[in-house]
Amino acid sequence: MEQKKKPLYDALVQHQKKDPISFHVPGHKFGRVYPDGTAFESVLHIDATEVSGLDDLHAPEGVIKEAQDIASHYFGSLESFFLVNGSTVGNLAMVLATCHPGDQLIVQRNCHKSVLNGLELAGAEPIFVAPEWEEETNRYSVMTKEAIKQALDAYPDAKGVLLTYPDYFGRTYALREVAECVHDYGIPLLVDEAHGIHFHMGAPFPEPALQAGADVVVQSAHKMAPAMTMASFLHVGSDRVNTRRLKHYLQMLQSSSPSYPLMASLDLARHYMAGMTEEDVRVLIRFVMEVRDVFRSSPHWNVPPLTEWDDPLKLILEKEGSGFALAEALESVGLFPELATSGQVLLTFGLGESFEVEDLKRRLMDVDRQLKKQSKRATIKVDQPRLPVVQSLALSFSDMIETPVKWCRWQDAEGEVAAEAVLPYPPGIAVVLKGERISRSQIDYIQALIKQGASFQNEQIEQGIMVFKGEWK
Ligand SMILES: Cc1ncc(COP(=O)(O)O)c(C=O)c1O
Repeated sequence: MEQKKKPLYDALVQHQKKDPISFHVPGHKFGRVYPDGTAFESVLHIDATEVSGLDDLHAPEGVIKEAQDIASHYFGSLESFFLVNGSTVGNLAMVLATCHPGDQLIVQRNCHKSVLNGLELAGAEPIFVAPEWEEETNRYSVMTKEAIKQALDAYPDAKGVLLTYPDYFGRTYALREVAECVHDYGIPLLVDEAHGIHFHMGAPFPEPALQAGADVVVQSAHKMAPAMTMASFLHVGSDRVNTRRLKHYLQMLQSSSPSYPLMASLDLARHYMAGMTEEDVRVLIRFVMEVRDVFRSSPHWNVPPLTEWDDPLKLILEKEGSGFALAEALESVGLFPELATSGQVLLTFGLGESFEVEDLKRRLMDVDRQLKKQSKRATIKVDQPRLPVVQSLALSFSDMIETPVKWCRWQDAEGEVAAEAVLPYPPGIAVVLKGERISRSQIDYIQALIKQGASFQNEQIEQGIMVFKGEWK
C-alpha cells in the first residue's frame, strides 16, 4: 500500500483551501470567531468536523478508512484504529472487549492506571504478575515466560494476558517467548506498547509487539512518534480477539466528535515514520549517541549503558536518592525531563534532531554549577517494595462497590485494604492497588517518595489513605 499517501491529512488541508464558510460546529468557525486571532489559530484552521469528504471515525468509509488501512499495512496488523483519547482509551477498550464481569485477566503488576480502570469498569478479576526485579536497573522490568506460565497454571480460566512492553524507561524483554506461551493456553496476549510505536522502524530498536505475536496492541503515537498529544493507535494482530466488541467499546468510549487535527496527526506521524530511511535512522542514532556522550561526561550522575533490550531513544540519568532534585536542577536551565523517580531521571528523544548539542552543553555547565552547590543536600534512599510474583486482590471490584470506606492515617494503614490506588504521576503506575492489602514496605516507600518531592494524584497523601471498612483486616 502506498505509504507516501496521507489521505486524511491532505483532505483536511484541501478542505481549508476551499475557504469554507462554516454553517456547522465547531463554534469557533475555523478560528474566525476570534477577531484578533489566538495563539492556536493554525490548529483552529484545520479543526473541522464530519462534513462531506472528511469521513466519520465511527463509520469510516472514505479518507479515515483509507488512512487507517495504510496505517494497518505499515504496522502489519489485521486492522488498525485511530484513537483520540490516548492509549488510555485503547487500554480500556482492550480490557472491556476481552472480559465479562467476573472473568479473570492476567495483568502485569506495574501496568498503567488505565488498565486498572478498565478492569474495574469490566468488573473483571485481575491476577497480577510482577516482572522480575533487576538489580542492574533498580526496577521491576523483565517479564518472564516462567512467571506468566506460573499464573496461567494457577488460573487456567483466565481470558487473556495483558502486558506492558516496553516499560516507561524503554526496557523490553523476550515478548515472543511470552506470546508463544500465552497462545499455548489458547488465549490472547494484549500489549500496552504506549512507549514503543517506533520499534516498527526496525534495528536498532527492539522487536515491536505485533511482530512478536501480540493479538491486540495499543500505542501512543504522541509519545515517541511526532503525533499530537492524545493521538494513538489500537492494532488487531489476530482473530483471537473479538474485533466487533473492540469496535463497540471504542465507539462507546470515544467522543462522537473526534478531533480532526488529532486524527490527521496520526496520518502524518505514520507517513513520517514510513518515510524514514535506514540512513535517517543511522543519523538519528548518531545524534543520540553524541548527546549520551555529553551527559556521560558529567560527574554528577551515572548514565547506564544501553543493552540490546533497551530503546536507544531513552536516556536515563541515575543519581541515587536525588532523582527529583536532579530534575529540578535540569529544569532550572530549561531542560525538561519526561519524568523523575527517587533515583532516576528519564529523558526521551524524538524521531529527529530537535536541539543543538552545543546549546545543551552550555546549559549543562549551569547545571554543574548548581549541583556543586547542592552537593551537601541530604539524599534520601528508598527501597522499592518487594512484590509477590502472582497476586490477586483482597476484595473483588463488585465487593468494593458495596463496601463503605474510611480515612486511615499511615501509621494505622498496614494490613488494611486500600480503597484507592496510590499513584505517583508520572508514570501513573500504582504503588498500592485499589483492593490490595497495604504492606509496611509500601508505606515506607510512599513516605520516602513524599519526602523526596514526588507528585501524586491522591488527595492528602502526606497524611494517609482511604481504606475499606470492615472485616478485611
Ligand atoms: C505504559 C502506559 N500505558 C498507557 C499510558 C496512557 O497513554 P495516553 O497518555 O496516550 O493515554 C501511559 C501514559 O503515560 C503509559 O505510560
